[in-house]
Amino acid sequence: PDSLTFLGIESSCDDTAAAVVRLTSGRGEILSSVVEGQTALHAAFGGVVPEIAARAHAERVDLCVERALAEAGLPLAALDGIAVTAGPGLIGGVLSGVMCAKGLAAATGLPLVGVNHLAGHALTPRLTDGIDYPYLMLLVSGGHCQFLRVDGPDDFTRLGGSIDDAPGEAFDKVAKILALPQPGGPSVQAEAERGDAKRIPLPRPLLDRPGYDLSFSGLKTAVLRARDGLMAGLGGLRQQDRADLCAAFQRAVADVLVEKSRRALTDHPVRTFAVAGGVAANSEIRARLQALCAGLDTVFLAPPLRLCTDNAAMIAWAGIEQFQLRGADDMTLVARPRWPL
Ligand code: KG4
Ligand code: ZN
Repeated sequence: PDSLTFLGIESSCDDTAAAVVRLTSGRGEILSSVVEGQTALHAAFGGVVPEIAARAHAERVDLCVERALAEAGLPLAALDGIAVTAGPGLIGGVLSGVMCAKGLAAATGLPLVGVNHLAGHALTPRLTDGIDYPYLMLLVSGGHCQFLRVDGPDDFTRLGGSIDDAPGEAFDKVAKILALPQPGGPSVQAEAERGDAKRIPLPRPLLDRPGYDLSFSGLKTAVLRARDGLMAGLGGLRQQDRADLCAAFQRAVADVLVEKSRRALTDHPVRTFAVAGGVAANSEIRARLQALCAGLDTVFLAPPLRLCTDNAAMIAWAGIEQFQLRGADDMTLVARPRWPL
């Protein structure tokens, strides 16, 4: 059909989300996108607590769906399908979404499409900018870090990724080490702006190894050691030392991301390089990747942040693309905690 309108549901981490997306003559349009974050619920625990997340998703997912439909101005009956994140993620949350989607599909007879959360992120540039396959994607967030080559709605090649922490996780841990507020990305970036990136030497993990793999956990430990060295004999960390450490850390992350991206783009010369994930919001990292692409004659694409971070519009869109390719799932669709692309 020329036009398809899908509801999307996302509940795999700490955001409950629902959205309505329409495909018309090849282009996607977001009719509504509701995201209910849980940051406040988990703040006291220093990380996402799976039990709390699961309960919050179960309580909120129906309401998010109602709001998404209301904001799109459409009744359920006007939809052509329901897409839901079926993994990977915290299983309690994924289950809430899948149960909700199955209930709606059973009640309406609408097609049900289970979507891989990572496919949602990876297909976002097609929704926002209508770009063609193939393209390269760097997914950098609190939970993900990988280079993907995208050749079709269900055709992903993982070129490489982090062998330990995701970069956002490293930003968050560095913030904790330096007593800066969470989430760490924005607060480390703000400190880095006042700092000297060259004063404190930090490693560039895995830079000397071939391939596209990355590592961030040693970098975080190096920051911890440097902090202890700077604090030795003092009551605490001096303001300038903290800023310099943040600048050095951010520079190290940017350096390895840029170098591995350069390799990936050299080995896979595609027209477009897209980034997604919360870390793509970092202005130094973004500017450096943009400069890299300009030098390689590659189009650099960073979707708006609200579509780079977890949302359901990307799930609805991926559902539409995959439905066109392979049709619907049936009621045996299961929620999967692990699901490599
Ligand atoms: O994609 P996202 O919202 O959630 C998932 O991880 O799924 O990414 C959140 C991560 C956090 O670790 C946060 O510290 C990081 O993205 N982040 C940043 C910036 N803004 C958010 N990291 C570096 N610089 C930023 N400006
Ligand atoms: Zn995500």
